[in-house]
Amino acid sequence: TNITGAATPRHFLADDDLTPDELIEVLDLADRLKAEPFAERPFEGPQSLAIIFDKTSTRTRVSFTAGVAELGGFPMVIDAQGSQMGHKESIADTARVLGRQVAMVVWRTAGQERIEEMAAHAGVPVVNALTDEFHPCQILADLQTIRECHGRLRGLKLAYFGDGANNMAHSYLLGGANAGMDVVIAAPESHQPDPAVVARAVERASLTGSTLTITDNVAAAAAGADVVITDTWVSMGQEAEKEERLKIFGEFRVTSETMQAADPDAIVLHCLPAYRGVEIDAEVLDGPQSVIWDEAENRRHAQKALLVFLDRFRR
Ligand code: CP
Ligand code: NVA
Repeated sequence: TNITGAATPRHFLADDDLTPDELIEVLDLADRLKAEPFAERPFEGPQSLAIIFDKTSTRTRVSFTAGVAELGGFPMVIDAQGSQMGHKESIADTARVLGRQVAMVVWRTAGQERIEEMAAHAGVPVVNALTDEFHPCQILADLQTIRECHGRLRGLKLAYFGDGANNMAHSYLLGGANAGMDVVIAAPESHQPDPAVVARAVERASLTGSTLTITDNVAAAAAGADVVITDTWVSMGQEAEKEERLKIFGEFRVTSETMQAADPDAIVLHCLPAYRGVEIDAEVLDGPQSVIWDEAENRRHAQKALLVFLDRFRR
């Protein structure tokens, strides 16, 4: 294995770091690991993986911790406030130190440029556990869940409602395009996706034949949707804008009306934590079409598959 930083590792910093074929390979492995949780033990020894949080987390923290243990590794969970990172030591120096100690680095942080800096200097695979721009591990779990329910991804209409400029919207665009899905982002004009991300998604869509739509028309977005999704209107770090945000996104709430317009077999996803009665009505979030607990469970299976995949490039 590479503990010297000599080989060039693969990273997972955004959804398009996997090719469309590699994405399916990871999802297939995720299904296998769901059935046989201990089938892959790449970190037996155990090797350690650093799992670092600059922001709070329940699902990501628990699913990576349990997942790394199931892969035979030692999950070293670090809260950044308790380390020298950020205040006393640069990301580059931190990366060089981590790369000499652990097999991989999983990091939840703010700006995408921070995780890119980590990846540039760690010498080991770096995995994005959420940044302001992307949440690609969540999308892996979501795609696994959609496949479980619908039996396929290609050609399905995925409709996301709410903040079109946040990490989830960006990752649905990139990851959905990578999976060949028809992605619709319904968001107010003031909060639509970053054009640079859209350009990357368009590039991916040209490989898979997926279509991408960005609109403020809620009814058109909901019509015939196979997957209905929303996310909090106030992401971590945006707490100061809360009042304003609750007003801006009002008409983009997912309600039973949304579900009536969607395909009768539509499923509902939410990465959680959810705010019932804000971005989604309780009757939808807790209703029969919601698969949010499977989605939360699949974080572990999908992330384990990703780590097994990335490990192959260290050998
Ligand atoms: N969905 C998600 O990433 O949840 P946490 O913030 O609890 O990790
Ligand atoms: N958009 C949300 C996702 C939480 C998992 C946030 O960044 O807070």
